[in-house]
Amino acid sequence: MALMFIFLHLLLLLYTCDFVRCLNVGINYGQIANNLPEAIQVVGLLESLRINRVKLYDSDPRVLKAFANTGVEFIIGISNEDVRKMKDASTAETWVIQHVSDHLSAGTRITSVTVGNEVLSGEDGVLMHDLVPAMQTVYEALVKVGLDKQIQVTTAHSVAILETSYPPTDGAFRRDIVGKYIDPLLKFHSKTGSSFLINVYPFFAYKDDPTSVSLDYVLFNPDKGITDPNSNLHYDNMLFAQIDSVHSAIERMGYKDIVVVVSETGWPSKGDSDEIGASLENAATYNGNLIQKIGMSDPVGTPMKPSAPIDVYLFALFNENMKPGPTSERNYGLLYPNRSSVYELPNEQKSNDHDDKILHYKYSSSSSPSVDWFFTIKVALFMPLVAFLLVTELQVELWRYI
Ligand SMILES: *[C@@H]1O[C@H](CO)[C@@H](O)[C@H](O)[C@H]1NC(C)=O
Repeated sequence: MALMFIFLHLLLLLYTCDFVRCLNVGINYGQIANNLPEAIQVVGLLESLRINRVKLYDSDPRVLKAFANTGVEFIIGISNEDVRKMKDASTAETWVIQHVSDHLSAGTRITSVTVGNEVLSGEDGVLMHDLVPAMQTVYEALVKVGLDKQIQVTTAHSVAILETSYPPTDGAFRRDIVGKYIDPLLKFHSKTGSSFLINVYPFFAYKDDPTSVSLDYVLFNPDKGITDPNSNLHYDNMLFAQIDSVHSAIERMGYKDIVVVVSETGWPSKGDSDEIGASLENAATYNGNLIQKIGMSDPVGTPMKPSAPIDVYLFALFNENMKPGPTSERNYGLLYPNRSSVYELPNEQKSNDHDDKILHYKYSSSSSPSVDWFFTIKVALFMPLVAFLLVTELQVELWRYI
């Protein structure tokens, strides 16, 4: 029996990132759709994508239960509609027990709670006003159950909270929100040690101005890039420049120790005729190059913070058919609801070279799935071990009858 147990355990290891290296990117798992697979099937999909960090917009118990004991890490969310009621201490406590503590005890890993999404770039003044107090109350509820060191409380923003983002050293928050909302928020991050989350879409910058914004610059393709005249730092892609403009905006407020995380980034594979740049090829190139550059490489930082590894959550796992707005909104997924890939992504293990050449992922509609040699070798080594264990187990069973 003991051997059988070891065997099963090894079999499980084969399908986790202990055995096959996971990508260094997370993914947003949105569910504004009526045709998505069951959460339990998503466990296998993420394993095949080799992604082990997930961001939810809610705390769907079906998802959190399905991922118990998988080792996958979750950022869970409190929706904008629920921000206000979290200002109440007992509501926040009940929420934390039901949506955090209970799942942790059942073996689901949760690292962070986002309170609201893109609240400070919205129109709802009451919600903006409630944001930091609600974060504070959720934090206090975590303190009460002893989880405040283990779980961060944060919120995600759109880059529309910036007044200036170019050049990166001039990055600054919008004047109308900076004193009233941003300053208390940064104080909260600084005090509790939580990260600042920002949703960054170079796609929008390109779509709004395709004649002056270089497509290669936004797609991480080789490009002359830009040089920040104040710092002399060179940027070969827009994502890194936008992250650094957020770094500048935060430092301008006097905070030096707050980590910035890209809570969403992605590219639509389809759009309306006026959504220039939305295409299968560009989406495959953007996400493919991003995975090459960040997901499969040694940790990379931005020019301004080269030693702080960039942390990115792709948007999104599935195309979501019930999202309102232009066609692009329903076409950010890496996967169709029927679980097939919208386009191929690079999946080779990164060779361990340290040269600085740009890792250029080329989209090709006819490319065949590449063989993951790392994985194949591991399986080849693993099989004799399985055979050995089975034979040994069989002998043990036979001995009993002799
Ligand atoms: C999955 O859905 C997409 C989009 O509707 C379609 O193009 C593709 O053929 C489907 N794949 C399978 C295996 O059914």
